[in-house]
Amino acid sequence: MVRRNLWLIGALILGMIGFSGIVMSQLGAKDDDLEAKVEAVLSQLSLEEKVELMAGKTTLKNYLEELFKGTLWQVPGNPRLGISPLKCIDGPRGVGIKGSTAFPVGMLRGATWDKDLEQKVGEAMGYEARAQGANVLLAPCINVLRHPSWGRAQETYGEDPYHLGIMGSSFVQGVQKHVMACAKHFAGNSIEGNRFYVNVKMDERTLREIYLPHFKMCVEAGVASVMSAYNDLNGYLCAHNKHLLTDILKNEWGFKGFVISDWLNAVEDTVSAINAGLDLEMPNPAHYGKKLVKAVQEGLVSEKSIDEAVRRLLRMNFKFITPDFQAGYDKSKVGGKEHTQLALEVARKGIVLLKNDNSTLPLNLEKIKSLAVIGKLADTKNLGDKGSSNVVPSYVITPLQGIKNQAEWKIKIYYSDGVNLEGAVRLAKNADAVVLVVGMTWKDEGEGGYSFFRGDRLDLHLHKQDENLINRVCAVNQRCIVVLEAGSAVLMENWEDKASAILMAFYPGMEGGNAIGEIIFGKTNPSGKLPIVFPRSQDQLPPFDNRAKEVVYEYYHGYRWFDKKGLEPLYPFGYGLSYTNYRYDNLRLSAERIGKAGKLIAKVDVFNIGKMAGEEVVELYVGYKGSKVDRPVKDLKGFTKVSLAPGETKTVSLELSAQDLAYWNSEKSSWEIEEIEYIVYVGPSSRQEDLLKASFRISGK
Ligand code: BGC
Repeated sequence: MVRRNLWLIGALILGMIGFSGIVMSQLGAKDDDLEAKVEAVLSQLSLEEKVELMAGKTTLKNYLEELFKGTLWQVPGNPRLGISPLKCIDGPRGVGIKGSTAFPVGMLRGATWDKDLEQKVGEAMGYEARAQGANVLLAPCINVLRHPSWGRAQETYGEDPYHLGIMGSSFVQGVQKHVMACAKHFAGNSIEGNRFYVNVKMDERTLREIYLPHFKMCVEAGVASVMSAYNDLNGYLCAHNKHLLTDILKNEWGFKGFVISDWLNAVEDTVSAINAGLDLEMPNPAHYGKKLVKAVQEGLVSEKSIDEAVRRLLRMNFKFITPDFQAGYDKSKVGGKEHTQLALEVARKGIVLLKNDNSTLPLNLEKIKSLAVIGKLADTKNLGDKGSSNVVPSYVITPLQGIKNQAEWKIKIYYSDGVNLEGAVRLAKNADAVVLVVGMTWKDEGEGGYSFFRGDRLDLHLHKQDENLINRVCAVNQRCIVVLEAGSAVLMENWEDKASAILMAFYPGMEGGNAIGEIIFGKTNPSGKLPIVFPRSQDQLPPFDNRAKEVVYEYYHGYRWFDKKGLEPLYPFGYGLSYTNYRYDNLRLSAERIGKAGKLIAKVDVFNIGKMAGEEVVELYVGYKGSKVDRPVKDLKGFTKVSLAPGETKTVSLELSAQDLAYWNSEKSSWEIEEIEYIVYVGPSSRQEDLLKASFRISGK
């Protein structure tokens, strides 16, 4: 307490004599000291000065620079009191300034199921952001992929809230070693075409159990900021949504950071936004600024609410921004070897082997003499969307280049873009193996919508020409490998049986071509697993309407929807092959019964019974027996990735806590842990036949 007061007095004196250097390094500073400093500075700001901190200041010139070069979105600071401006930069697959490292998109990173690796990605992006002068990174995007048609699917990690929460919070921990992170878009943002106006309706249980847990996990990881979504949720614009921003995020979860609006038209009314708990309007004070000052003067908004917003902004500002902010940060590391190697490592671990008939892959350089590489995308720098998540690296390794890097020294590689179909078929006929690279680009899916489809991918099939190409080419060559690039699921019923092997490469980043080459020739053993379901046909999916003014999100989507309806997907959630084989055995639980505050450990032995070293994602799901409410057949509640040499066995332990099994009781407005039997499933995918089973009960405290 004494220390706290000393801080306050000291800060006041310094403030009075106009000393502007009072912002000192606060990373690691004690919370009390930080709070005292925040209060000291807050008490010296006039209403106008406070409000100035609560909105971005972006001129037309900045806008254009942002569009073409990638400059920073700024929020003014206050030089008189040494408050640094905020400098925000996108985004989820790398820093949006030319020359930064272009990592694989979030969806591929979700497919790594590797939280430590994701933390390293966050750390690298945080470093690059800071080295280039930013102090807020507008990532991670952790929206639930409710439907694979969502145009921004690639930005997020997948469809499951637990998996999203683990990946997102790991990323946040990495980023925040250097700058503030921003978990976005809060909440229910998963259709692009109508994002500015759609009212997403869902019941409270669906919201709590499906659309929010991952945001809470990021809050628990200390995320500095949360971005409200463009859409309405249950009748209120997310930026005006008091239930979301204040009741849940700030009051229930104890979020200490600040809420940023999404960018264009995300705020519609001054009083509603501030009273709901929106702390910072971006990118300009369309509704804050002068309008907010006036609202306070007219008594429509209390100065207490302004103080609360500014307190949150200052808290994070002082915590993260040191006076010598960029000292020691080496710009040559931006897009440098260390980070591009990390981008390669991620691509190696996130590309998913979906099919491999007769062990077509890996190709053996001793056994083939020629390879035909076919498809426009083989020779295209295809990093994904060019909306706010765009990253422009100094180079991109295409699949063709990556394949050449692995094999050109030994075999003949022929390339055709496939436009001349007969030529491509001839090439394929004369080669010992074929790699077809097909899929989507930023023109097919992404933010904002460059097409009639407004960014969403309403037809999940490949383009007709690509389907033709696969069918014709695979008919003349027994070793026919299809590499897919896309942000989410692709429907394959028109050709899947023709391909001997299929690799899902998503948008694999600037080093993606090398990872593809390494996997094709067996230098890397694939270990990615799908973070989403791949349906067999469109009619297996819930509805998706990107022009509707109102949509209802039911409780079920993704694998929970498939499980519940008894639908068999083409490739299940959590599925992916390897060049080796694993066997699971001996699932055991540390207890047959735990109390409501209890935890248990599930152990399972995983054997590498093949001939190649590999990494295996071990997944744990929980089912509910005798629940009084409708529950999913199973929910993902744990996972880890282990590496195993040929012949090696490892015992994998996964922790489960009773609390994580609660459901939201809407009548009581609280979480409830049921005293029932729980089935634990552990295995290599969400497919029921793949899973070992054990059970336990929760009862008592
Ligand atoms: C996007 C955000 C992004 C912001 C700034 C918005 O349109 O929805 O994800 O961070 O623009 O570029």
